[in-house]
Amino acid sequence: MNAPGSARTVTPPEHVFDWLDGIAEQRADAGLTRVLRARSAEEGQLDLAGNDYLGLARDKRVAGAAAAAALRWGAGATGSRLVTGSTELHAELEYELARFCGAQAALVFSSGFTANLGAVTALTGREAAIVTDKYIHASLIEGCRLSRADVAAVAHNSPEAVEHALATRRKQRALVVTDSVFSVDGDLAPLRELSAVCRRHSAALLVDDAHGLGVLGDGGRGAVHAAGLAGEPDVVITVTLSKSLGAQGGAVLGPRRVIKHLVNTARSFIFDTALAPASAASALAALRVLQDEPELAERVRTRANELSTRLHEAGFAVTVPDGAVVSVRAPGPDDAVAWAARCAERGVRVGCFRPPSVPDGVSRLRLTARADLTDSEMDRAVTVITETAPPQARR
Ligand SMILES: Cc1ncc(COP(=O)(O)O)c(C=O)c1O
Repeated sequence: MNAPGSARTVTPPEHVFDWLDGIAEQRADAGLTRVLRARSAEEGQLDLAGNDYLGLARDKRVAGAAAAAALRWGAGATGSRLVTGSTELHAELEYELARFCGAQAALVFSSGFTANLGAVTALTGREAAIVTDKYIHASLIEGCRLSRADVAAVAHNSPEAVEHALATRRKQRALVVTDSVFSVDGDLAPLRELSAVCRRHSAALLVDDAHGLGVLGDGGRGAVHAAGLAGEPDVVITVTLSKSLGAQGGAVLGPRRVIKHLVNTARSFIFDTALAPASAASALAALRVLQDEPELAERVRTRANELSTRLHEAGFAVTVPDGAVVSVRAPGPDDAVAWAARCAERGVRVGCFRPPSVPDGVSRLRLTARADLTDSEMDRAVTVITETAPPQARR
């Protein structure tokens, strides 16, 4: 018999999550409900929504490396990096990544999200000030929140605003945080100017190069390399292995002492199971493909520009891409969702960004170019997006 008041004798209260229903209703009224759709492996849609910029996720050299590593090392890493999770694959990937991007050293995390959390928190703390672009990725924002530092989010792509925040900060130590290529509109941060501002104010610069790696710079070495800042003693780079490299995972690249500090203090590194060996192996294989075929980076940029030009000519308000991301303005969140759904019905998968994923309240279709898009796929994409557009989407 159960003791009086024990968990088993109490009727489970149905009402404890009632508050969620009200919130769900508000979300639905605003046209902002998100739903998961499971795609099948064979769906055959033309993908302009993923981040597989170089078309490597299904490349046999890359996927095959994952399969071979899983068979050799096992399906999982078995522990955190500091316990049993570090394999020779992780070490090799760190060496190759650092060498490719021109950094002194690298540290692989289980995702780009955890890399950003780890880097921002470990390099700041209560005694530091953080100055961020207001459009940085959510993972960097979470890092800032967890850091307990003084955080100032300033105007987008404004070295002047960063300078003002640094000049008026109350903490001596400072970290400036930005994306290289911004996820939503695909525009590039003024990295050289930001670095100059940082140097005038003895601040470190952290650049999330998630959308730059594999796309920008010499052979895809990234936006920081292109800006001549890789390997500098005051610059830290974060990347994801899940976009151009078609794999999974993230990394922080920078001065050796920064990497050592992260190994010892970054909680999202220390208390997280290591990246699976299959993912490490596939990222490594993708990096080698990119080194063998440096033209892939230029090809994706060319495709992005073609997409943007053709949609502009068709009358849409579209961004001029700095990398692989092309953003097309939609009249509102419902229109954006319906437009993306009509594209999907016609076999073209496009991204749909709307609040709260977009910082400026503007809904848009988000298209990602790929290096392996054919001419006929480009034609099909432009035709479908144009023919399914709501009338108010035209400029
Ligand atoms: C700019 C940026 N940083 C970080 C991340 C997170 O990377 P991951 O998906 O590997 O966690 C993303 C990915 O969505 C991103 O776009």
